Amino acid sequence: MAKHITVEAPEGGYEITIERGLLAHMNDCPKANLSGRTVIVTNPTIQPLYGESLARLLPDATIALMKDGEQYKTLNTVGKLYGELVAAGLDRSGTVLALGGGVVGDTAGFAAATYMRGVRLVQVPTSLLAMVDASVGGKVGVDLPQGKNLVGAFKQPDAVCIDPDVLQTLPEREWNCGLAEAIKHGLLADTVLLGMCARSHEVDIEEFLARAIQVKVDIVERDPYEKGERAFLNLGHTFAHAIEQVSEYRWLHGEAVAVGLVAATRLSYALGLCDESLLNDVEKLLEQVGLPTRIGKLDPKTLYGAMSTDKKWRGGHPRFVLLRGVGKPLIVEDVRRAEVLTVLKELKS
Ligand SMILES: NC(=O)c1ccc[n+]([C@@H]2O[C@H](COP(=O)([O-])OP(=O)(O)OC[C@H]3O[C@@H](n4cnc5c(N)ncnc54)[C@H](O)[C@@H]3O)[C@@H](O)[C@H]2O)c1
Ligand SMILES: [Zn+2]
Repeated sequence: MAKHITVEAPEGGYEITIERGLLAHMNDCPKANLSGRTVIVTNPTIQPLYGESLARLLPDATIALMKDGEQYKTLNTVGKLYGELVAAGLDRSGTVLALGGGVVGDTAGFAAATYMRGVRLVQVPTSLLAMVDASVGGKVGVDLPQGKNLVGAFKQPDAVCIDPDVLQTLPEREWNCGLAEAIKHGLLADTVLLGMCARSHEVDIEEFLARAIQVKVDIVERDPYEKGERAFLNLGHTFAHAIEQVSEYRWLHGEAVAVGLVAATRLSYALGLCDESLLNDVEKLLEQVGLPTRIGKLDPKTLYGAMSTDKKWRGGHPRFVLLRGVGKPLIVEDVRRAEVLTVLKELKS
């Protein structure tokens, strides 16, 4: 059955609708309100699958294409999108509809936040990762050559519309990446969700998505601008960003997050914060769903070097999100280099 989640936000709340088949009647979705001029931002992979039929359905919509891939999440792409928005005659009453994975959502969202000082934004995420993570919480932005997500804004969407049926065309590797973030949410707050992640192909998809999204909604509602607990959403990510960087992005983000979750749990155990059973459970779950749990050929010292340049490590100060148990995250500062290196060396085997 369709699910609706209301999100409270300082700039105005919005609703997330999760409904199989939603894309086929987006024209009468009251929350999205797409009766006026709409520019659908998407990429050449998604356009033939879902973009064209959506454009035909809406009364006044055109398509603006950006290239597919993280390397196009740039200011250059945003600049081109502005040109398309002008050409489409989009004024302040118009809507940008982001149809795609997190790359489209972040880039189109940033264009919508800044074009004419902000126009309506409807997020229609099509990857599992974008559904459970990127489309929720109002962060939009692009990468710079110097690093990921270095330019951005907070821009709450006017609506988030999720049609789980589009996941049927999502490649398995991308599905697993989304699952890694859903497992992260489970570890932060919801044991039942962890069970659902283990059997994700068998569970009710609307129910599964709703639970995974709710964890992020609860956190961003309490801390919309990342002054405090929103940082918990970075569980596993200090390790993950280092793995992505050192592997020159051959590892996908979700794969790196999976190993990051193992590393964070191992570090928690090494510091006496959690039981060994948590460690075993996390590794077993990730293995079961086909996500990596070891760093393979990557070198622990090189990884540590990359971690210390993480923008979340204020002034090179080590800072980790760790776990006392499921639903019990905490931030730990000043972890000794030797402790971290020991954990990374364990992850070689
Ligand atoms: N704003 C946030 O809060 C937030 C949170 C997490 C991640 N992100 C960002 O999200 C991005 C990653 O998102 P992603 O994992 O969705 O990557 P992505 O957008 O690159 O999508 C992955 C691939 O799957 C394809 N795809 C998407 N949906 C599909 C479908 N239904 N059928 C077939 N192919 C499909 C895409 O075209 C792409 O090739 C990163 O840039 C990351 O920084 C943002
Ligand atoms: Zn992530």
